[in-house]
Amino acid sequence: MTGWVVIAGLGPGNEALVTPEAQDALDQATDIVGYIPYVERVEPREGLTLHPSDNRVEIDRSRHALEMASEGKRVVVVSSGDPGVFAMAAAVLEAVEHGEPDWRDLDIRVLPGITAMLAASAACGAPLGHDFCAINLSDNLKPWDLIEKRLKLAVEADFAMAFYNPRSKSRPEGFVKALKLLQDTAGDSRPIIFARNVSRPDQTINIVPLDKATPDMADMRTVVLLGSSLTRIIERDGTPLVYTPRSVEK
Ligand SMILES: C[S@@+](CC[C@H](N)C(=O)[O-])C[C@H]1O[C@@H](n2cnc3c(N)ncnc32)[C@H](O)[C@@H]1O
Repeated sequence: MTGWVVIAGLGPGNEALVTPEAQDALDQATDIVGYIPYVERVEPREGLTLHPSDNRVEIDRSRHALEMASEGKRVVVVSSGDPGVFAMAAAVLEAVEHGEPDWRDLDIRVLPGITAMLAASAACGAPLGHDFCAINLSDNLKPWDLIEKRLKLAVEADFAMAFYNPRSKSRPEGFVKALKLLQDTAGDSRPIIFARNVSRPDQTINIVPLDKATPDMADMRTVVLLGSSLTRIIERDGTPLVYTPRSVEK
């Protein structure tokens, strides 16, 4: 049997947003590796072994997947959303670069998925309709100073922004500082969108002016979108529509 490793994204939560390509890989797999809540999304069946593991063991998990593929197993490493966005694809490649030389010869494929910011953007219109950037607000793997520098430069460049991992129980202060920096530097009331549990039955979309936003509006199940200075709101009954125009005056 020839082994392989596929790193697949399961989308933001709604099963309709799992791509047919990712589902096909899951159907062919002998082994599924990933963080516990993502592995729980995979339907158990005969011939399939599930290997759920805890958070923050990404390199161990990657090495395990590569070892199993070397032994001939068909392994899917699952992430939520897209596996290349703050997720397992980079971890597996890091393990390949620093691991056994023959891991480089394995069949390793990354399958795209629908990332949280795109599902959130679609849920309220098109706030990422022009230039934007995505920033992971967790300082677990990078210095906080770098996050602040990137936030300041993104405001200066007038990007719309998407923030992942905004606030956790172990890092309650980070988002307080990030939000204050954004409110101080953007200096206007552009819309900020708190999109929680996007695409799931308990999805909530909370759109407020930046100067009225408070840190408790975000948690780890929220992706936060901030408009650029040009982002518009179309008021109507129910959730307003938000969009960033495709053009900037020349
Ligand atoms: C470790 S990152 C993984 C991102 C994932 N790879 C993706 O592409 O969406 C986890 C963060 O993604 C965001 N996220 C993931 N799924 C979400 C959802 N259904 N609704 C809102 N935010 C979500 C949250 O900001 C969460 O803290």
